[in-house]
Parts: sequence; C-alpha cells; structure tokens
Amino acid sequence: MSISIKHTLHFIDSPDGFLADIAVPNTMLLIDENVKELHGKYFEKYNSITIPSGENQKKMEVVESIIDKLLDAGIDRNGTIIGVGGGVVTDLTGFVSSIYLRGVNFGFFPTTLLAMCDASIGGKNGINFGAYKNMIGTITQPNFIAFYPPFLNTLSDREFNSGMAEVIKHAVINGGALQKFLQENTRSEIQENPEKLKELCQLATEVKVNVVEQDEKESGLRKKLNLGHTIGHAIESTSDFTHGECVAIGMVLAAKIAVSRRLAKVDLMRDIIAYCNAYNLPTHTPLEPKVLMEKIVKDKKRRSSEIDFIMPYAFGDVRVFTLEIDELEHHLKELAHE
Ligand code: GLY
Repeated sequence: MSISIKHTLHFIDSPDGFLADIAVPNTMLLIDENVKELHGKYFEKYNSITIPSGENQKKMEVVESIIDKLLDAGIDRNGTIIGVGGGVVTDLTGFVSSIYLRGVNFGFFPTTLLAMCDASIGGKNGINFGAYKNMIGTITQPNFIAFYPPFLNTLSDREFNSGMAEVIKHAVINGGALQKFLQENTRSEIQENPEKLKELCQLATEVKVNVVEQDEKESGLRKKLNLGHTIGHAIESTSDFTHGECVAIGMVLAAKIAVSRRLAKVDLMRDIIAYCNAYNLPTHTPLEPKVLMEKIVKDKKRRSSEIDFIMPYAFGDVRVFTLEIDELEHHLKELAHE
C-alpha cells in the first residue's frame, strides 16, 4: 500500500516563521545538548528536555526518563513532541511519540546533513537493545519535518561528510538528477552556496521519500535503502567510524562484490569510490573478514544461512540479492587482498 509523506516536508526560510503555527502549551521539545548551545535561541519559548549527544542515548532507560518528564509537564493526547537534532534525537522523538499515551503528534527539525537527507525521513524509529541496534521501534510517520539548511553551517567537516555518504547512497540508488548534481558540483561549491546546499537536500530527500511512499513497511523496494548497511552496521558496532563512514565502506565493498560477480561494470565501483574520496570518506574496512562476518551474522540475531544483500548493478539500478553467508565470506576474503 502506498502512502503520502511529501506533504510533511517543509523547506523553511526561518524556524521562527514555522514555529509560529505550533502552540507553546502542550508542546515538548527534545533537543540535542550541542544543538541547544548553537541554535537553542530559536526554540526558547518551549518546554524542553535536553538529550546528551551520542548513540548510547537510544535505550529504554532514556525513553522512560523522557516519559516521566512528559507526564510531569502534563503533555496530553493532544500534545506535540518536537525533536531537534540528529538521528539519535529523531529516533528517540519518533519512538517516544508513538508509544506515549498510545501516540501523540510529533515533528522534527533535523540539524545534521545525515538527519536531513536520511534519518528524519521514513517513519522508522528505533532504540537499541543490548548490543542490537534499532531492535525495538515502530514505523510511525511524523506530522512534519522542517528543514532549515543554515543549521548545516555549524557542522564539522567530518559530520558533513558522514551525511554525504547517505546522499551518495541515494545517488547510486536513483541515478538521475541527484547523481548529475554530484557530478556537476564540487564539495566547496555545495558548502559555500546556500542555494546549492538546499538543492542537494531537496534532491536527496526526494529519493528517500519516493522509495518510502511506495513501500513504507519495507516488504521489497525499501530494502534498497539498506545499500552499504549490512557491512556498514557490522563495522559501526566495533569501530570509531561514524555511521556515514561505515555506510561508505559498505557501499564500496558491495560495489566490489557486484563487479567480481560480473553484475556491475568496474566503472560503477570507480565512480562510487571517487564520490567517497571527494568527501574524505573511507573506502576500506578496518576489520578482518572473519571478524566482519561474525558481526554480520550476529546482527539482529540472524538465523538464516542467507541474507538479503543490496547489490548495486549501475547508477539507478540497485537490487535485493539473495546471498549465502558463505558466499559473502568468500567475497570478503577475496577482497581483503586488494
Ligand atoms: N527514520 C529513518 C527511516 O525511516 O529510514
């Protein structure tokens, strides 16, 4: 069943203007601690809960403490919860909002490139359970997502690049206008020109929205968005690389596997590596194949001997490919010598 989420996305000229429509009583803000320092002035009129930065906030104890504070503040069924920050805050906001009083209205102000182009869109919200990432959650669409690209001006280069990995992933999945944009604009042209930055976000969000609208519950098409993530998550669970950096490595390895199975031309792999290089993203795994495989098999308590591996065939042609675990291990060992 297809859904419509396009109407929830708003590219805004100022947070103040957008917030004028959101009443102060019965609204609670969840705001990342660093974002509060940098951009808190836009949101001062609201009650807020500050969320310390870091993936380790995505756990049940934090959810429970947020719910305590929502109850103390008297937020009721007609209330609204607004998440301001990166993917951790949008995940927590989406999850809490979809279970608190069996569901209240919520919206996001994503403040990182990764959250704007990926994490804030799609309705999946998850918290971690022990070592298992995003093991608990719901798929609930936010009522609004407000994009204010100037928030990106305060990102570190590393954070910006991390977001670019998901943008590159969307370009591989869709080809088209986003790929053309990446070919025609250098990193500094994008970062230094607000209009180009906005265009980049618009093109990248469009790709994700189109996929999610066709397959919200991930029964088929949406799996393509996991390109680079099978290997990426395994690396992320055991290294200091950022999420985007791990996705970049995963995407490059997926392209190498596609080339070695003669499913993709070598140019595809070279182009993906070139895009990653342009944004200082790593392209080699720091893990030995054996360790990588252990992590992949452990991910989400996998029991089957095969996995849905997302394989890039060409720009605009990414497919779900059934791969035996043993075959994947064989490929990773083969590639370890490159
Ligand atoms: N919230 C991220 C997603 O749904 O993909």
